[in-house]
Amino acid sequence: MSRFARHLGNQDGPHNPFPGLQALERRLGHALPHRIGSNEGLDMPHRALTARFGEDVAELARTYGDAEAWQVRRRLAESLELPMEALLVDAGADSLMALALRALCEPGDTVLTSAGTYPTWSYFVQGHGCRQLEVAYTSRADLLAPDLDALAAEANRESARVVYLANPDNPSGHLHADAEVLALRDALPHDCTLVLDEAYHDFRDDAASPAANAIWPGVIRLRTFSKAHGLAGLRVGYAIATPETHAMLLKVRIHYAVSSLALAAAETVLAHPDETREHVTAVISRREALSTWLRERGGDVLPSTTNFVALRLSDAERASAIHRQLLAEGTLIHRPAHPALGHLLRISALDEALVPGRLETLASALRNGE
Ligand SMILES: Cc1ncc(COP(=O)(O)O)c(C=O)c1O
Repeated sequence: MSRFARHLGNQDGPHNPFPGLQALERRLGHALPHRIGSNEGLDMPHRALTARFGEDVAELARTYGDAEAWQVRRRLAESLELPMEALLVDAGADSLMALALRALCEPGDTVLTSAGTYPTWSYFVQGHGCRQLEVAYTSRADLLAPDLDALAAEANRESARVVYLANPDNPSGHLHADAEVLALRDALPHDCTLVLDEAYHDFRDDAASPAANAIWPGVIRLRTFSKAHGLAGLRVGYAIATPETHAMLLKVRIHYAVSSLALAAAETVLAHPDETREHVTAVISRREALSTWLRERGGDVLPSTTNFVALRLSDAERASAIHRQLLAEGTLIHRPAHPALGHLLRISALDEALVPGRLETLASALRNGE
């Protein structure tokens, strides 16, 4: 059986009716400076927008973006040492998850994940009418991690069409080695796809190495510009997969989902990798400082390969009390809503978290064993 939704696998198309002006220019091999066919509002003066954001933003706002995200994919292909055909750009990792589900699953299909992982996935699975199954995390001293053996066993028992794994994981921060992820992929049913959410990939030590960015058949690797690149508000992400997989995703992709401004911003940050590297280094050093600070106060801090720290409390009531108390003080940290992981508190590794006194309520609760 095909790994894609039957109505897509069994036909040629659907074909995107609007691949866009830039794609047409590339196909023709020359520019089209006289644009009087695309109904975009190119003559809008944009005095207010220009006054607020400058002429560049006004100019980008007037036009549809490049549906093929050519320049972003070209830069990514260069830096990741991948062919452009292995890269698909969309409006963030969230959007790519929804896209993968549309291409892979029909309502009623079984989809599997870890109980308490990044919840947007389950939200989309339910919205798509799929049958959602979860397995518990592995939990022991110094470790809270998605249980790959349990995922493989359950996927086979229940004939899952898709398994979702966040690696590094949110909210635990755990990173499975690539060999473990590939062993999971190999243990899945042959028509089951692994959706591998790598939103925090850039915080891995080996993030830039070609081996960490390879095309893995049977796997759709999702990345984002929201974390290490600081573009969460602009919505850009990309997927690494085989060209055949991307051909199926492109059948159901919303072609102008990524705005021209978002594409231009992504191109700009990719052109300045030193700034991203500098930011990642600073985040990691803050994360380690925050982890040490919490450990010194008795906190059970989980190892993290992300831009946050997860703190494990003895029970959900205790975590909830601290969470509520901090909220009352005007400080927002995160407590997962899923009952399986309600005993965690997740704190972003920002300077704000290290401001003296900011997390004193948490520190004193830890000291007092409350
Ligand atoms: C595991 C994971 N995936 C995806 C996202 C969202 O990424 P994006 O902003 O690209 O949609 C997040 C954000 O917190 C996340 O933690």
